[in-house]
Amino acid sequence: MDTQILQIDENSLRLAKEIILNGGVVGMPTETVYGLGANAFDTAAVESIFKIKGRPNDNPLIVHVHKDYDINTLVKDIPEYAKLLAKAFLPGPLTMVYKSRGKVSKTVSCGLDTLAIRIPSHEGAQKFLKYVNLPIAAPSANVSKHVSPTSAEHVLKDLNGRIQLILNGGNSIGGIESTVLDCTGDVPVILRNGLITRDMIAQVAGDCQEYVYKDGMRALSPGMKYKHYSPVCRTVLFSYNEISRAEEEYKTEINKGVKAFILCDGVTAEKINAENVLNLGKTESEIAANLYSKLREGEEKAELIIAVAPEKQDGIMVGVMNRLSKACAKG
Ligand code: TXA
Ligand code: MG
Repeated sequence: MDTQILQIDENSLRLAKEIILNGGVVGMPTETVYGLGANAFDTAAVESIFKIKGRPNDNPLIVHVHKDYDINTLVKDIPEYAKLLAKAFLPGPLTMVYKSRGKVSKTVSCGLDTLAIRIPSHEGAQKFLKYVNLPIAAPSANVSKHVSPTSAEHVLKDLNGRIQLILNGGNSIGGIESTVLDCTGDVPVILRNGLITRDMIAQVAGDCQEYVYKDGMRALSPGMKYKHYSPVCRTVLFSYNEISRAEEEYKTEINKGVKAFILCDGVTAEKINAENVLNLGKTESEIAANLYSKLREGEEKAELIIAVAPEKQDGIMVGVMNRLSKACAKG
């Protein structure tokens, strides 16, 4: 199968709809990362997402809908705080988990009685979702466990020949996946950190808890227990206080003839004594937006990525650190 990358226009949207209605999958842009979408009502189509990605079959998918889609047809028992949160942050990088009405294929939620709903703000995603007028189940459009894609080219790299169409919506400006929020209880609970932070949620909802997955526990959000976001080369992570250790490691490896690269934020890049640097940028939003593209650039150029964590660890850096530590072994 040939994989095409097409700009989003009337023609590509028509083709995308045809593929979706025929039970196929489409690569689609969102403001966080690219998704691999299929009709959420079509079990065979949803199953094919798992096959194409090599995704474990107990890791549920998020359903994406257009901003005017009536989600009450898919989920029930939406609490008041969730309505406030939706008003404040949607469309945007916040996925909300509700009790399911069981209307979409059971394969989407891997047998759970809940359903995760996301209304992306990306203009191209909104156009696609409006055009197909269906709930679209979509995980990130990478091969399972690999770094998530933030451009159409990244999707092509992972899934070339396995899908027919990638809608090209440019580089994802958010850069890390949406915040996943459990809205089935009295208080919202973060299952995965992202660009909508715990403080932002607590300010609107009055309170916000965070679920911390530990090995062996029943995973509320099954995706938490898997290795993720990993480049194909060796990776190692140092904390901000260990810059000199990272520098030493870099020197040792370079002297051994290993192609080592330091991955760090703009502040560390100015301080560190290394020639090969993957600079994530200075502001928090830049760091999040560049994380995956720099990890992918790193695996192309490097045999070893030596990552140094940013100094700031709160706000959206919580989500960034979660991805970075899953991508790297400890230093
Ligand atoms: O930004 C995003 O969320 C991107 C774009 C494409 O929208 N999507 C994404 O999907 O990151 P994926 O499949 O890579 O991650 C989905 C996460 C997983 O951690 C999964 O376990 C969790 O959402 N999830 C999905 N449905 C759930 C449910 N019913 N209950 C709890 N967690 C759920
Ligand atoms: Mg993913």
